Amino acid sequence: MWSHACPRADAILSKPGAGNRTPKRRTGGSENAASRRGRGLESFPFPPRRDERKETGDAPEGTPAVSENEREGASETMAKDSLTITDNRTGQTYELPIENGTIKAIDLRKIKTGAEDFGLMTYDPAFLNTASCKSRITFIDGDKGILEYRGYPIEQLAEQSSFLEVSWLLWNGELPTKTELDDFTRHVAHHTYLHENIKRFMDGFRHDAHPMGMLQSTVGALSTFYPDSKQIGDERKRAHHTIRLMAKMPTIAAFAFRHSIGFPYVYPDNELSYVGNFLSMLRKMAEPKYKVNPVLEHALDVLFILHADHEQNCSTNAMRAIGSAQTDPYSCVSGAISALYGPLHGGANEAVLRMLAEIGDIKNVPAFVKEVKEGQGEKKLMGFGHRVYKNYDPRAKVIKRLAEEVFEVTGRNAALDIAVELERIALQDDYFVKRKLYPNVDFYSGLIYEAMGFPTDFFTVLFAIPRTAGWLAQWHEMIKDPDQKIARPRQVFLGQGRRDYVPIENR
Ligand code: ACO
Repeated sequence: MWSHACPRADAILSKPGAGNRTPKRRTGGSENAASRRGRGLESFPFPPRRDERKETGDAPEGTPAVSENEREGASETMAKDSLTITDNRTGQTYELPIENGTIKAIDLRKIKTGAEDFGLMTYDPAFLNTASCKSRITFIDGDKGILEYRGYPIEQLAEQSSFLEVSWLLWNGELPTKTELDDFTRHVAHHTYLHENIKRFMDGFRHDAHPMGMLQSTVGALSTFYPDSKQIGDERKRAHHTIRLMAKMPTIAAFAFRHSIGFPYVYPDNELSYVGNFLSMLRKMAEPKYKVNPVLEHALDVLFILHADHEQNCSTNAMRAIGSAQTDPYSCVSGAISALYGPLHGGANEAVLRMLAEIGDIKNVPAFVKEVKEGQGEKKLMGFGHRVYKNYDPRAKVIKRLAEEVFEVTGRNAALDIAVELERIALQDDYFVKRKLYPNVDFYSGLIYEAMGFPTDFFTVLFAIPRTAGWLAQWHEMIKDPDQKIARPRQVFLGQGRRDYVPIENR
């Protein structure tokens, strides 16, 4: 069974023409000039690139592309999609092409003070203003609070789609037909079982092991079970392992949960939906078949849709960075899970619940907000703020509505009132308004998870399962992108200059 290949897996990930439509826009956020102009990645002619000119001998390395004299016909230059830079150290002027609202950082290397100079670099810790790839998967406009997968607004997908359909969409660029979706659903269900040795591997964890740690290391261990996953150049194999990973994530997550409560593992029930089966593996006891509550099944499916992708965030960047070394997808996803684990990323929903517990009562909210403000960044309002969203996170809006549906089944989560009051006060407070800090996806999701009976340390696992779809979509895109190479940033070295080793007795 373990070497079984899905005959249609390659079709699942390579629908003809899919994903190749000219996208409408570049990236989101306040600097999104291309978006404002409504033009796409390839919708306007580019000026010849500097490196192309170099190849034709027009501009040898280290030579400015445009001389001072050439600049005198300035009005023509002004109309071009290019940037003119004057290096005040040398007085030389350079013209760099602008594509999709970006200049190529490598073009700056031609700006030198002399032959010995390495060339100019950009300094951008945390990638505050660096696009690391061209992508056609997810669009975010952080100022307007817009999130779209392959052009479809997240609100419509949450309302009308299903998680597996969204996964297909992320990978293929188009929504599946009914036959395609049925076929895909069957293939995913076919791969939900784990090798028994993986189960034993999981037995080795301490009873109190954090489920994210278990998930991260077990997914990494899967690479040893599927050595052919190293053949990342083989599109068919990539497709097989994508389906396997998607199928096995809920099983590993559920086994981690059962391990932590000391209950026997529940094997997958492939007659249930993706989410229904997950709930069964988490909850089933002695009954012959687990009865899935349709409201909770739907709610979790929506939460999975909302978490499926979010363009170049910390964990996706980890996925792409590891994948750029041609590492197998299990190891890549394991690395991405590690990034998601952190409290500033996926771990925030867990942190929100701890924060709400610390506040304890609505009457303590103003004092808590005051503490955050006076803490000068030391203490954060967890579930608030986002690197990209400077407006209400559209996912948080959907989750807030979803919470009401879930609470009708589970009963109201007492911490909800504290959360609502916290949001109300924060959104009126100058500190948060000035910094454009709004609730993010994690602010309300934890409350739903808690109401559904998930332990706090399991929340990030509930994020990692659906995000695997996005990580894999981004990984496929990266592998096929001819611009990509092994990720290797530069540094600004400020350490010691060369010096001689001093033997220990002389120090
Ligand atoms: N509470 C209080 N102040 C905050 C918060 C917050 N949650 N977030 C940012 N700020 C303040 C910062 O202290 C800073 O203030 P300053 O200008 O006086 O120095 C200012 O707002 C800008 O914040 P940065 O940290 O520069 O913003 P950055 O883009 O680097 O951080 C992040 C984004 C990490 C999400 C941050 O807002 C944060 O830590 N939030 C809480 C954790 C959280 O909810 N993470 C989940 C993010 S969503 C996700 O990953 C799925």
